[in-house]
Amino acid sequence: MKRFYVTTPIYYVNAAPHIGHAYTTIVADVVNRFYKLIGYETYFLTGTDEHGDKITQAAREAGMEPRAYVDKISQLFRDLWPRLNISNDYFIRTTDESHKRVVQYILQKVYDAGDIYFGSYRGLYCVGCERFYTERELVNGKCPDHDKEPVVREEENYFFRMSKYQDWLVEYIKNHPEFIQPERYRNEVLAFLRDPLEDLCISRPKERLSWGITLPFDDRYVTYVWFDALINYVSALGYPDGDLFKKFWPVANHIIAKDILKPHGIYWPTMLKAAGIEPYQSLHVHGYWKIEEGKMSKSKGTVVRPLDLVNIYGLDAFRYFLLREMVFGLDANFSEEALIQRLNSDLANDLGNLFSRTLAMVQKFCNGRVPSMPEGGEEPTETEIWEQADRTAEEYEKSMREFAFHKALIAIWELINRANKYVDEMAPWELAKDETRRKRLAVVMRTLLEINRMVAVLIAPFMPGTAEEMLIRLGIDKKVLELRWEDARKRLGLKEGYEVEKGKALFPRVNMEEWKKKMEKEQKEDRPVEKVDELISIEEFQRIKLKVATVLEAERVPKSKKLMKLIVDVGGKRQIVAGIAQYYEPEDLVGKQVVIVSNLKPAKLMGIESQGMMLAAESPEGLAMVTCDKPVPAGSEVR
Ligand code: MSP
Repeated sequence: MKRFYVTTPIYYVNAAPHIGHAYTTIVADVVNRFYKLIGYETYFLTGTDEHGDKITQAAREAGMEPRAYVDKISQLFRDLWPRLNISNDYFIRTTDESHKRVVQYILQKVYDAGDIYFGSYRGLYCVGCERFYTERELVNGKCPDHDKEPVVREEENYFFRMSKYQDWLVEYIKNHPEFIQPERYRNEVLAFLRDPLEDLCISRPKERLSWGITLPFDDRYVTYVWFDALINYVSALGYPDGDLFKKFWPVANHIIAKDILKPHGIYWPTMLKAAGIEPYQSLHVHGYWKIEEGKMSKSKGTVVRPLDLVNIYGLDAFRYFLLREMVFGLDANFSEEALIQRLNSDLANDLGNLFSRTLAMVQKFCNGRVPSMPEGGEEPTETEIWEQADRTAEEYEKSMREFAFHKALIAIWELINRANKYVDEMAPWELAKDETRRKRLAVVMRTLLEINRMVAVLIAPFMPGTAEEMLIRLGIDKKVLELRWEDARKRLGLKEGYEVEKGKALFPRVNMEEWKKKMEKEQKEDRPVEKVDELISIEEFQRIKLKVATVLEAERVPKSKKLMKLIVDVGGKRQIVAGIAQYYEPEDLVGKQVVIVSNLKPAKLMGIESQGMMLAAESPEGLAMVTCDKPVPAGSEVR
């Protein structure tokens, strides 16, 4: 029995899912559906990674307990996948008891074998990545992923003797070209392995991080997040004894993006080796989706939410776009405009048009029923079309196995375009006018219907909903996941005399001009036009004295929601009443340096004298104090 096991990374639950997570998971889904199609028994795993600093930090920011927080975000992922038609067999969470037990089992096994030891480590640590960095890995002294300087951290911890397995790993990668794909990432890992590998710190003291899995041999520590997370790929299969493990582990294929190449290409195989588990079969690494040449960023508002797009353009257009636009392994730029272009040209014009004109003609010229194929009616044009169809299937299968999804789609589209051209060349509407050419008409219409069937089966892994719709309308009574390769390869697969269903267009077109106008309008509304203020002279400005004041004391004005009384140092002590009590706590203010208008005539606010005015920026989010970006002597003038 041929088998295939496909996994996605387990996603951190510190943020809601975005298009990057959707891409990897859809790729895994396409692969899973493809292997089922060609007759493999498959297992498809995804899940969430729920321990570690990052998660506790995000929970704290959300004002929630870690447990409640991880439940909530993990649920967002679990709710999203069915809406993207993801066919996963299991969803693992690293907070599952069964997973924790396996992590502890493997830790103990590796510890007993002498490959985990206690030691002290001082190094540069990036909180975002949850790992120590070597100087060489930093870019201008900063973490390349987070653009932040790492902090120096020293700790007594447990270490995994990763260095011991360096030579073995290099040999293994060299002898197994399929182990890390595409080749550029294999080379990247090999390049990294040219330098001596350090041992991996695998624990965190509980006083600093308690949200994790306790080490079975020292309960003062929890496991480092990567040691916990990577094990999900075997714990989900019921390692060590589960049948699923025995069946599927030898054919494990991990899909990840380049950001987590090192943990998957180096930590994981060495961990497996130390635990006495065979290495996975292959690691498939893809590039990054970028927004206008940049990384997606929450703060820049450039995070693309999958469901926003699915709701507007439809699920299959979204899935098709992602797989057609990105060359697996390379980065790609996301733009809504490109999505609309693909939807209009490839889906509505090419595929949608072929299907709807075929059905319309069957209705008109064949009483709406699948005609029988007249014996010996095939002419060289049909022979040539079927030869092309055979080449398409071969090219498709080869490309799919290589993860070259865009090539597989290009091959299908060449066939679609050939079929559209065939319609124009054969002009069935002309044949229909001529009684003596009935047989020819039947050959042409049946050939067209069968090519549509074949196309539906080939696109099924990418666009299961569309494939199902097409097959139902053509009279094939099979669920998409039950389709098999023979369903695509045989020439005559339709039921003679079946009444096809014309239905509506598979992909409604989006009017690009209207869309562009709408975007322009939204952009204008988004960016308020700068107000033109009345101008003043420099002399007038110089009459206003602005000074830096250090806040010495702060307290709320009783019975006032807005007012805060401040004692500040501006070279001498002063009392200022500021309307900031809704946005700051008194303890946030003490020690801060703020900017005040120091020559304002004193005024009384709720009976309290204010000897100056503090400056703050106003926005829909509230007030933000104006401060200096480094300490200056109190009383310094601001000009
Ligand atoms: N929890 C770890 C993985 C542990 S696996 C044992 C983690 N989680 S993550 O939430 O940060 O997910 C990273 C993965 O999300 C990437 O490897 C990739 O699959 C996907 N992507 C996140 N952003 C992406 C893009 N901008 N573009 C493409 N894929 C991206 O790392």
